[in-house]
Amino acid sequence: MMDDLFSGLEAAAPKRVEMADGAWLLRHHALDVSSTLLHAVDQISSAAPFRHMVTPGGFSMSVAMTNCGPFGWVTDRRGYRYQTTDPESGKPWPAMPQSFQSLAESAARDAGYPDFIPNACLINRYEPGAKMSLHQDKDEKDFTNPIVSVSLGLPATFQFGGMNRTDPVRKHVLSHGDVVVWGGPSRLFFHGIMPLKDGIHDAAGRARINLTFRHAAV
Ligand code: SIN
Ligand code: FE2
Repeated sequence: MMDDLFSGLEAAAPKRVEMADGAWLLRHHALDVSSTLLHAVDQISSAAPFRHMVTPGGFSMSVAMTNCGPFGWVTDRRGYRYQTTDPESGKPWPAMPQSFQSLAESAARDAGYPDFIPNACLINRYEPGAKMSLHQDKDEKDFTNPIVSVSLGLPATFQFGGMNRTDPVRKHVLSHGDVVVWGGPSRLFFHGIMPLKDGIHDAAGRARINLTFRHAAV
């Protein structure tokens, strides 16, 4: 009985894992607020629905995306960029909920970036089989700010490499409530998500939701 209680507490205890210089995995950092975050995602996606955007090369992404906050990341045949409006509706992206902003700032602080204030939140929805190939986040122009990435729903394998696409990658399983923060020396490191394994998550169903907070300079 005591053992069970103890291992339960251990499992829920926050844990920081240094993934690379300047990059931290904050296990369970978002667990307490996860249902608030998922509820907010439903509200955002009813105003700005998830959609499969097209890359400049003409491929439809397997991950469905939407955004909230002053700036949203988009891709189409013209390229990758941030814009203040949803290209589907022409309207501004839904506002960034206070719960999103607070969580992103507290995670950044815990990882050593106390000045981070996000002005963009890309919301990624992965269904089984969806993946994100290795890439760098480099459309923000200002790389003094970190990236804060929140995982909700089904677990996924995150790959974190180096400055070159061919650098070796480390793999980390990201579970519901985990937060990854990378900045400073690792701000431009290649990263990606391996194809999502099938499953059903209690709170998110047959999906993984990822919130990626950035400070975009335009
Ligand atoms: C991204 O790199 O934009 C998404 C990463 C993730 O889904 O965890
Ligand atoms: Fe990324």
